[in-house]
Amino acid sequence: MGNKRKNIVLIGMMGTGKSTVGAHLAEQLGYCPIDLDLAIVQEAGASIPELFEQRGESGFRDLESGVLEATLQGEGIVLATGGGAVLREHNRSVMSSCGWVVALTATAEDILQRVGEDKNRPLLAGGAKERVYTLLEERKHAYEFADVTVDTTDKSPEQVSAEILTHYRG
Ligand code: S3P
Repeated sequence: MGNKRKNIVLIGMMGTGKSTVGAHLAEQLGYCPIDLDLAIVQEAGASIPELFEQRGESGFRDLESGVLEATLQGEGIVLATGGGAVLREHNRSVMSSCGWVVALTATAEDILQRVGEDKNRPLLAGGAKERVYTLLEERKHAYEFADVTVDTTDKSPEQVSAEILTHYRG
């Protein structure tokens, strides 16, 4: 502990490219890529929509907090978190103390293009467009605790990853 740069934690809204960028970044650094949603699904043995259905959002958030904290005990990890993992103060403090936190941002249009049709995101059920705008408004300050923020607009995952690396090594 004590060394924030032992892990990289990607935060940001759904559809900002955290998982894709995380995988690329990990490859560049020789780090281990971990997708928090996937780790939760493996741990719980159920899909994200099933978990929301069975346990409600707060039950899902409890699982998310546990897997987040356990994962960040390691080092040499690039962790792509779910968009709502930042909502709990305790999670934010775990991320900040065990990792170097990078926020990815994107426009509502880009986000909708990437995840608008995705049935695997329960928070977008019943009107993705309206839900994305609402969540962006509700979470407009939620990602500000990051050590660095990178706008992904008009950039490929490789470009975003290269930009993060410049900050990380700088
Ligand atoms: C959520 C984002 C999702 C997933 C869950 C809730 C959120 O992850 O954790 O559906 O609250 O924004 P992605 O950001 O990877 O889509």
